[in-house]
Formats: sequence, C-alpha cells, structure tokens
Amino acid sequence: MRAHEAGALHGDLGSRGPAWLRTPQDVNALERELWPSTVRRSEEGSLTVGGLDVRDLAATHGTPAYVLDEADLRERCRRFRAGFAGADVFYAGKAFLCKAMVRIIAEEGLHLDVCSGGELTTALAAGFPPERIGLHGNNKSAAELRKAVESNVGRIVVDSFEEIDRLTEIAKQYNAKPKIMIRVTVGVEAHTHEYIATAHEDQKFGFSLFGGAASVAVEQVIKGDALELTGLHSHIGSQIFDVSGFELSARRLLQLHKQIIDEHQRELPEMDLGGGFGIAYTSQDDPAEPADLGMAMFGLVKRECDALGIAMPRLSIEPGRAIVGPAMFTLYEVGTVKDVDGIRTYVSVDGGMSDNIRTALYDSSYSATIAGRASEKPPILARVVGKHCEAGDIVVKDEFLPADVRPGDLLAVPGTGAYCRSMASNYNHVPRPPVIAVAGGTARVIMRRETEDDLLALDVG
Ligand SMILES: Cc1ncc(COP(=O)(O)O)c(C=O)c1O
Repeated sequence: MRAHEAGALHGDLGSRGPAWLRTPQDVNALERELWPSTVRRSEEGSLTVGGLDVRDLAATHGTPAYVLDEADLRERCRRFRAGFAGADVFYAGKAFLCKAMVRIIAEEGLHLDVCSGGELTTALAAGFPPERIGLHGNNKSAAELRKAVESNVGRIVVDSFEEIDRLTEIAKQYNAKPKIMIRVTVGVEAHTHEYIATAHEDQKFGFSLFGGAASVAVEQVIKGDALELTGLHSHIGSQIFDVSGFELSARRLLQLHKQIIDEHQRELPEMDLGGGFGIAYTSQDDPAEPADLGMAMFGLVKRECDALGIAMPRLSIEPGRAIVGPAMFTLYEVGTVKDVDGIRTYVSVDGGMSDNIRTALYDSSYSATIAGRASEKPPILARVVGKHCEAGDIVVKDEFLPADVRPGDLLAVPGTGAYCRSMASNYNHVPRPPVIAVAGGTARVIMRRETEDDLLALDVG
C-alpha cells in the first residue's frame, strides 16, 4: 500500500496497520505500536482518539497540545501490574507527572517513584498514598528528605554517604526509622538493546559495587541502626529492549545481598531493578510485552536466588516511558513548508524543542503523520522542525509526508507521553502546551496551556 492511499484506511488500525505513515517498504505491523490504542482514521481521513476528532480538539484547545489517550494509559498500567503480579510497579513520575496522572496511577494500583520535592508535593497534593511512594535523587536536599520522612513515604532510595548522614540526622529529629534502599551502581550500562559492562562506572548515581562503596554504605546503615534497610536498587538505563542487562544487574545485586547475609546476618526483603523498558518511537523499535518481561525477570531472579541459596526478595520495577510514552501524541499545526532543493522539505510546526527536547538532546527518532486529512499525493522526505531560534530545533528528523503538506495542516507526533511535557521549557518565551486527556468521547484539560501572563508573572524585576 502506498503512503498516499492513506484515505483508504478507516476503522481499526490494528487490523490493517497505519499505512498512511510511510513508504511501502516501511509498512509493517509494528507501526501499530506507535499509536495509542483508541486512535483511528475517520471516514474523512482525520485522526480520532477516544472517539474525538483531532480537528475538534485543535479547534477547542489550540495547538500545540499533548493528547493523552486515557484508556490506553490505563491499559498499560494494567498490563504491567498483571505482568509483574507479585512485584510492585513504581511508575517513574519523571516521565510525566501532574495531579490527574497521579490519580490515575493510584486508581490503577501502581506505586509511584518521585525524584524531587516538587514531584513529591504533586503526589501528595493529589492524595497519593505515601506508603506507595519511593523517593529518588542523587542530591536530595535536607528539606526534601524532611518532607519524605514527615509524610511517611514508603521508601527513600539513598544515593550518597552525605545522604546517609543527612537522613540519619533527620530520622533522629523525627524519632523515626525511615525505610531505605541503597542504590547500587552495578557496572552495567544499558544503551537501548546493548549493554556494556564496565568495571569503573563513570556516572553520578549510586554507590559503586566494584569500587566497594556499596558494601561500605550497607555496613554504615546497618551499624548506624537509624535507617531501616529494606533492599538494594539498581537502574541500568533507558530504552532497553532485552533483559540481559537486567539479568546481569540482578545477579550482581543478589551477590551483594548474599554477602550482606553472610557478613551481617541480615536478609533484605526487597530488590528493585529500576525502569528503562523500551517503547516504539518508530517502526524499527520492537518493545516487549510486560507479561513477557515479567516472566523473564522473575525467572532470572529466581534462578540467581536458587543458585545462591537465598530466599527471593520482593521485586519492584520503575517503568516510566513504557507506561505513559505511547499513550500520548503531540498535535501541532504546520506553519511553513520550505523545500531545500535536492535535499529535503522542512515542515515547521508551532512548537518544537520547547515541548520535545528529546530529538535535540538524545538524537531521538520520532515519526509523524498529517492528522487532519488524508492525501492522495505521493510521499516526500520531510523534516519536521519547530519555531525556535536553533538549527537543532528538530522534532522529527526524517519522515515521509504527502507532497501537498501545507500550512494549516494538523500534524501528529506519536510517542511523546514520556519526557516531553516533563522536560518542556519556555525557551524563546514560548508557553508550554496543555495536556488534554481524552476518554470515551470526552476531553478534559489536565494541564492547562501556559500563557504569556504566566511567564510575565515570574518576571518580577
Ligand atoms: C531511578 C530511575 N528509575 C526509573 C526511571 C524510568 O526510566 P524509563 O522511563 O526509561 O522507564 C529512571 C529514568 O531516568 C530512573 O532514573
């Protein structure tokens, strides 16, 4: 099927594949992974989500806007819970957080990983059960730690010797014994589906396993007896597509665990293997199902525990992007179309690196489609760029769009739920877009659009 036959595609994309996106060679079943589950192509050729036409969403809420498919999001939460039954699934709030998101995570029975005072405040403001919150961060302030202890969060993942001292002091002041995990740098660095094992870990997070800092931290916490050590933690990276990195990390954590049992006669009830499960940003990505991940990870931890002769700790994981990434897309309006002869066509949209910094920051790949209509024109190679004063202000590096792409077109970029709104900036004093949650034919604004007055309100000079 040719890309310009897009208009022929109606109804359930799952059965036929969203072939309007790409050239024939690129069309394959994986493209279904790119879009939230309720996205359809209407009879008129526009996208619908949650039963609503993106043209109506754009008319009511303006562009750019992040559009969240709530049914898809909830389904992803459920798949992770089911796939990791018997473990605790901490949604990593850094991927995207607001009060409505916190409530959805609470309703779906997940735990919540926060990594700053601001994220903790948001979670508590939305009424999230504190015992299901874990606090992360390599440089938590005394105020952040105090707030975590005061509000009785379920765990604090300790990341430095200074933090052990700081938290010990605070615990004494509050006459409390906070539950903590120790973040271990296990020497496994994951880059998408590869990993490289390094003896020396050149990064800011955690206590080094090979350098011996992790053992010293454990000993200090156990001997200090002011903090309740519940387990070891590791997070090996992001956009990971195979479990071998987790396997190595689990093996190393469990070896340390065994050493703790032998040296301190202390069994730790929990172990956290972090997040980082990959999602589809383009049709080249092939993410695993949570059920398969769960089975593989339980299996490998069980094998290691059996080999070491220790009881299996309760597992937890911290997926962020795999929960919210694919549940959202960004809706833009095209403003200018510029042909650079013999090279490519530059399609400028009304947002850019201020609402999605990932392309500029990580050289990430995205895809895009014209969302408001179908086109009979053949595809051309296009680059979707933003409106910012940077040549690197690229949203989608390469995409085939119909040759008649023009100003006024709506353009949708899928897979923008994670690390887009949460990393959004006001660069060039461009206000940040709203987040519109859509479900069952209804749209609600869960984060409103920032205004120029909001920007001026901060400017008190
Ligand atoms: C400690 C920790 N846990 C979980 C995550 C979530 O990663 P992802 O969104 O790739 O699942 C991160 C991401 O940076 C992290 O640092």
